[in-house]
Amino acid sequence: MQKMWTGRTSGEMNEFADDFNSSIGFDKKMYKQDICGSIAHATMLANQKIITAEDRDLIIGGLSRILVDIESGKLAISDDAEDIHMFVEAELTERIGNVGKKLHTARSRNDQVALDLRMYLRDENVIIKKMLLQLIETIANKASDNQNVIMSGYTHLQRAQPILFAHHLLAYAQMFKRDLSRLNDAVDRMNYSPLGSCALAGTTYDTNRQMVADLLKFDGITENSIDGVSDRDFCVELLSCYSIIMMHLSRFSEEIILWTSSEFGYCQLDDAFTTGSSIMPQKKNSDMAELIRGKTGRVYGDLIGILTVLKGLPLAYNKDMQEDKEGIFDGVKTVQDCLQVFIPMLESMKVLKDNMLQSCKTGFINATDMADYLTKKGLPFREAYKLVGSIVGKCVEKKITLEDIKLDEYKQMCDLFDKDLYNEIALETCVNKRNSAGGTSKSQVMMQIKKIMEFVENEKSLY
Ligand code: ARG
Repeated sequence: MQKMWTGRTSGEMNEFADDFNSSIGFDKKMYKQDICGSIAHATMLANQKIITAEDRDLIIGGLSRILVDIESGKLAISDDAEDIHMFVEAELTERIGNVGKKLHTARSRNDQVALDLRMYLRDENVIIKKMLLQLIETIANKASDNQNVIMSGYTHLQRAQPILFAHHLLAYAQMFKRDLSRLNDAVDRMNYSPLGSCALAGTTYDTNRQMVADLLKFDGITENSIDGVSDRDFCVELLSCYSIIMMHLSRFSEEIILWTSSEFGYCQLDDAFTTGSSIMPQKKNSDMAELIRGKTGRVYGDLIGILTVLKGLPLAYNKDMQEDKEGIFDGVKTVQDCLQVFIPMLESMKVLKDNMLQSCKTGFINATDMADYLTKKGLPFREAYKLVGSIVGKCVEKKITLEDIKLDEYKQMCDLFDKDLYNEIALETCVNKRNSAGGTSKSQVMMQIKKIMEFVENEKSLY
């Protein structure tokens, strides 16, 4: 195929080198952004009298028809082109003749690709933000549906203190809220138009970059043309955001895998989100959660990939930068796919509250409360801690619980014990007395749910 840049060279490329150089296989995703960017550019060129109004109309008409034809499937994006920018320009010239060749006045593919990628990511991030919001809402609903379910909270994966299952779930809602805010920040920082930076140094034409930025709904223009074409910080930042989202999804998935194991038996996944084994008939595997945990690795890989591509690059554009796309596209798709499967999996997950309660009864998870009981009656905390520790030790030996010991026996060990003890170490009391701000008591948890629901409603109205 004859190259558009034939001139300095013959344009005759080694066949494999030609394929190797080409990015159309993956950058064709950006056809819509490329066309919309070109329409804005042509509008500006005419406004500045760099091209005539007639030329502008021909160009915009041609571009609009190309967009319609691609979307309807009438026009296939051919893999012969070097990249999506060349494809659109060649197709335009084919359709409207020589006027099409005026479109590339006062711009370069370097600022064009920087523009298209920002616009593409801006659109895809709206989808991710909506999904994150849906996830936060799903968590809040699940918490609200299970507001009386008590489970053991863990440290070191050892039973620690009784908590509301809702409280545990809501911890994730807080993480995803921060993820959403991080994503908003990253998109805000990215939302400046680089178009008009041209190859690297700006242009001799009297362009109006602000006009293009306004037409394409950017918050402004990039202030340095060299930075405009060289910056891929936004890919690094977004992939950092995606990595953190995946890390949170992965921790949550890991817990779901544990909770649905027969060892825990706290939850059950809907059949729609499990698989069987090809050999063991009894198996119901949490493959979706495992895959999400596994795919976290590839998103981290995408982040390290782009960081490494950029680290040694002199300013301004270098072809290495074409390597930005596959990683960021992969990150976008992986996060979207994982959220798409995780949300309904969580929504349909059955909570086995009796099993959760049962495990609370055998782990001495009210031992802290017994120590606090003695401390409130005047025993220094360290002494209370030691005494309760020795009582737990005896219970373990006798295979009984703290509740099984009679009051007489307690009194012999310490005269501060009284009959109110049993109520004080009951699981509901232990939970509800943890009423400090952000604690696990029912009223604190209800407050959290309310705040999260309000956040979701408010945020929903923004996009
Ligand atoms: N396909 C190229 C990329 O993705 C477009 C920019 C090409 N610029 C150039 N000077 N060769 O980076």
